Amino acid sequence: MTANAEAKIAPSPAADSGTLGSHVLPGPSDADKRQFRNLLGQFATGVAVITGTGPDGRRIGVTVNSFSSVSLDPPLVLWSIATESANLAAFGLDTVFAVNILASDQETVARQFARSSDDKFSGLGVRPGLEGVPLLEGCVAYLECRVQAHYPGGDHVIILGAVHRYINLERDPLLFHCGTFHSLTKTP
Ligand SMILES: Cc1cc2nc3c(=O)[nH]c(=O)nc-3n(C[C@H](O)[C@H](O)[C@H](O)COP(=O)(O)O)c2cc1C
Repeated sequence: MTANAEAKIAPSPAADSGTLGSHVLPGPSDADKRQFRNLLGQFATGVAVITGTGPDGRRIGVTVNSFSSVSLDPPLVLWSIATESANLAAFGLDTVFAVNILASDQETVARQFARSSDDKFSGLGVRPGLEGVPLLEGCVAYLECRVQAHYPGGDHVIILGAVHRYINLERDPLLFHCGTFHSLTKTP
């Protein structure tokens, strides 16, 4: 371990040392960010493609794992988008977006919408949802939402959506953990 790395280990209370390991301060260097990202990757999530329509009418889609439920009454969900994303403009206040929750056999769809491209929808079956928002065929479930608020979130913008309609097809979901896609293995 370098002296630099040592300096980033925060003192831990005696009760936390040993079995719990060392506390690490999330620092600003690329190595620090990688380490912090690795930790965040330990939290297993589902995978969704957020779809919408750009100001020029173009179909937009972004793979995300930041989707989360927020409120049952009223029905609210959130996800976050990088501030540097060119797609941010498509998700202004009051615009409609859809959360397409991916199924276990849709890893190629997740990869397709995680890459920059002029037509991310190429080769995929799509149906129009609320106000024409694209719904990808073959997903586990769909939430059709309207952007209710934006919140600053560092290098991301947190988008809060009011859910207007949903479809639940209850298929097996695609999962993401430590940078790798997985499918669900149910415990007996
Ligand atoms: C599993 C996975 C989860 C992702 N989650 C997010 C996310 O929550 N927010 C985000 O802005 N980008 C996320 N990304 C990255 C975007 O999908 C990617 O930067 C974007 O689609 C690139 O296309 P663009 O150039 O059209 O923006 C994720 C990528 C993967 C593979």
